[in-house]
Amino acid sequence: MFNIFKHQSFSIDLGNNNTLLASADKMLLAQPSYIVFNANHSVKAVGEEAFEMFEKTHDELTPVKPLKGGVIADFNSASTMLREMVNRAYSTRSFLSGFDHIISGVPYYTTEVERRALRDALEQFNPRKRSLLFEPLAAAIGMDLNIQEPDGKLVIDIGGGITEIVIISLSGVAAFQSLKVAGDTFDMNIQDYFRRNYNMAIGLKTAEQIKIKIGAACEAIDPVPEMVSVKGKDMVTGIPITRRIDHREVAFILEKSIASIERSIVQTLETCPPELAADIYQNGMYLTGGGSLLRGIKDRFEKNIKLPVHLDEHPLSSVSRGVARVLANPKKFSGVLID
Ligand SMILES: Nc1ncnc2c1ncn2[C@@H]1O[C@H](COP(=O)(O)OP(=O)(O)OP(=O)(O)O)[C@@H](O)[C@H]1O
Ligand SMILES: [Mg+2]
Repeated sequence: MFNIFKHQSFSIDLGNNNTLLASADKMLLAQPSYIVFNANHSVKAVGEEAFEMFEKTHDELTPVKPLKGGVIADFNSASTMLREMVNRAYSTRSFLSGFDHIISGVPYYTTEVERRALRDALEQFNPRKRSLLFEPLAAAIGMDLNIQEPDGKLVIDIGGGITEIVIISLSGVAAFQSLKVAGDTFDMNIQDYFRRNYNMAIGLKTAEQIKIKIGAACEAIDPVPEMVSVKGKDMVTGIPITRRIDHREVAFILEKSIASIERSIVQTLETCPPELAADIYQNGMYLTGGGSLLRGIKDRFEKNIKLPVHLDEHPLSSVSRGVARVLANPKKFSGVLID
């Protein structure tokens, strides 16, 4: 009864591929970052429903993926998508009584303009307080790492649009690399490969499914997943065709992209102060983000970089878990919040 007077606070991970909303103590929503508009600009669908429609729409509908490379690429669509999602998570009453504190994750390597777009998108909720939190720091907190101590931690978040590699100590970032090679790149690699090698056009969603079902970061994996049948279109005749593919071929397709992530990890270690490097040799690296679900990635990095790899058990929600934890205890984490 008195609840209606309580101002709500929530946390956001506005990811390139997935948007997560959470309150201080529970997950409220996790949906793909997609929106579809009708011809009159009204919203046809958001999240899962919009993602299902992707690459299957007609002229009357405009599908939009509002984030690219981990940042807002289409401001109006991103704001509308966020509003629709917050609407779903909360009643209209919350909108009327206003929000208290909103914290959103933001990639570490972003420009002031990109951050301003995110802040502006949050302004529509009229929060009393609004803060941003660097996503790799949030991911570390979400993985239960103590980021406040003077002990170097190497955190790697392979998301959909970007991979961020950071060395954290004393609540700050001592060295980092950010690259636009991540889940979306893997999907495009697969799509390109089919086009070039088999004259076969496949959709991005099909490419993503191949990656999820049999994607691998190296050939030697256990257990070995079953081959999959890929449906597409012959680019010469236009006729629908299928082709079977196994995980070794996918490992070959993804090789260049995975190798570039690997090189960036090594470069981050090279630029890191020696004391922190010593900590990391002890602690190893912490891998999160949807891309860390690729089969064999732990073994591959351990073999090539010669450091222990800790895989996050729930890599799609580490940032959201971390932001929510900061929301629950903003005083404790005041050092990591930015305006
Ligand atoms: N089992 C899987 N194997 C490989 N990749 C996967 C798997 N499950 C999800 N992914 C990929 O993970 C990516 C999404 O990860 P995540 O939600 O961490 O990204 P994001 O936070 O939306 O993006 P960013 O951090 O770049 O803003 C997508 O590219 C998706 O295809
Ligand atoms: Mg992310």
